Amino acid sequence: MKVTVFHGSPRKGNTYTATHIFLDELAKSGPVIITEFFLPEALPVYCTGCTLCFQNKKCPNSLYVTPIVNAIIDADALVFSTPHYGACSMPAAMKNLFDHIDFLVLSVSPHEKMFTKKAFIITTGAGTTATIQPIRSYLMQCGVNRVDSLGIRMFTDLWCNMPDARQIKYEKRLRKAARTFYNAKRKRPYIFSIIFYYVVRFIIMKRYIGAGNFPYDNWKEKGYFDKRPF
Ligand SMILES: Cc1cc2nc3c(=O)[nH]c(=O)nc-3n(C[C@H](O)[C@H](O)[C@H](O)COP(=O)(O)O)c2cc1C
Repeated sequence: MKVTVFHGSPRKGNTYTATHIFLDELAKSGPVIITEFFLPEALPVYCTGCTLCFQNKKCPNSLYVTPIVNAIIDADALVFSTPHYGACSMPAAMKNLFDHIDFLVLSVSPHEKMFTKKAFIITTGAGTTATIQPIRSYLMQCGVNRVDSLGIRMFTDLWCNMPDARQIKYEKRLRKAARTFYNAKRKRPYIFSIIFYYVVRFIIMKRYIGAGNFPYDNWKEKGYFDKRPF
């Protein structure tokens, strides 16, 4: 299993610790090849909002973005690892990643290899649902087949400051989740993704009719108007 991991915390703290327990158990479950991206180092520039990616053109930050996108497409599984930050749910570096890969959603430039992928979201901090939800929603908009998650409400700034019993409890949960994730088979697409596909199809057909419009041409060429691709 090829796994591409994105670490969203600017420090190697709680989320990194939790994610490495998860990855350790994945590696024990069977053969894995793990590629890790540490943010913001792996993507130290902001999305400029130029919208070139929405027209299938090269991103001005492609030096950083192309290896990331290639690693996403090439992977069987994606792991998003991020703490919860109360202000807007996740660290800016993680949000910046999603700004750069936003074009992979069905409404812009869907990629058929996304439709067979599974993904796992690991968060730490008290408000884990608020962090998991936007990432899950994004992945479903890309047509990713399976999105699992584990939010650890740990109420501490350092993993090692937790009582031993809690550390053991969370480690067990992470290892169990990793084994389940490793063995998880392809499932039926999410209803959310299916509804999103039909909404997008309706909008693209209405709004982007005419040659030269990338989403329309792209969908037409790939046959997405005729048949749901996942
Ligand atoms: C800017 C910032 C905002 C945070 N906001 C919250 C919050 O609203 N609720 C919460 O429970 N923890 C919050 N935390 C704490 C982190 O979510 C928590 O300590 C997390 O485990 C840190 O992960 P890390 O060690 O991987 O960086 C915040 C931390 C930072 C740095």
